[in-house]
Amino acid sequence: MRRPVIAGNWKMYKTQAETRAFFEAFRPLVGSAKHCDIIVAPPFSALAAAVDAARGSAVGIAGQNMHWEREGAFTGEISARMLVETGCLGVIIGHSERRQYFGETDETVNRKTKAALEAGLTPIVCVGETLGEREGNLTQTVLKRQFEGGLAALTPAEFSRILLAYEPVWAIGTGRTATPEMAADAHRHLRDLAATRFTAEQASGLRILYGGSVKPDNIKGLMAQAEIDGALVGGASLDPKSFAAIVNF
Ligand code: 13P
Repeated sequence: MRRPVIAGNWKMYKTQAETRAFFEAFRPLVGSAKHCDIIVAPPFSALAAAVDAARGSAVGIAGQNMHWEREGAFTGEISARMLVETGCLGVIIGHSERRQYFGETDETVNRKTKAALEAGLTPIVCVGETLGEREGNLTQTVLKRQFEGGLAALTPAEFSRILLAYEPVWAIGTGRTATPEMAADAHRHLRDLAATRFTAEQASGLRILYGGSVKPDNIKGLMAQAEIDGALVGGASLDPKSFAAIVNF
């Protein structure tokens, strides 16, 4: 049985004060949740406040991005070991917004994933097709390219430590969720790719999260699919009540 993971990606939302207020309201609502891993990924400036506010709870804190080098002249970037020092356990890598607006590629996803693993972080690696690609029947082709370009160079031991997030770009922030069946189909395809590149056993241990307009009212249907191991939640993770309702699916 794969342990579910519910992760919140706050994107460029919440100051430190707003982060502290979130956790004050959120902690009592998920206090006794033992059925899943809970992750929150605040912006860099609120990471330390989040680590502090989540201390002693079941919530792990993750970054939203990182550079693959250990240190260097890379203005505006931070490294894996900086995230680790701040108290992060994981990091989101290759989110479609990073690919779309900041030029990330499968190659940078690969480098970042390796660097995150080397530093002891759990990478949450994002893949997913655009609307044009889905309508052009290219979903499987795109997922294969992203999987192979971003992850195939990992060793089996490295691969066993990642989380994969399937986030169809057309479902992000649009209120248009993939149906549970559509998401499960994509997850199955990704698991097949993992079985081909690694082993069947590794593929069956891989946790794949769905992301794209996950809300309290659709989480149950998504989690009812055996292929769906959790969710990566954007907008609905900003509100303590709605994120708690998703955690307590
Ligand atoms: P929404 O839940 O706001 O659609 O965002 C999904 C997402 O991009 C999570 O990483």
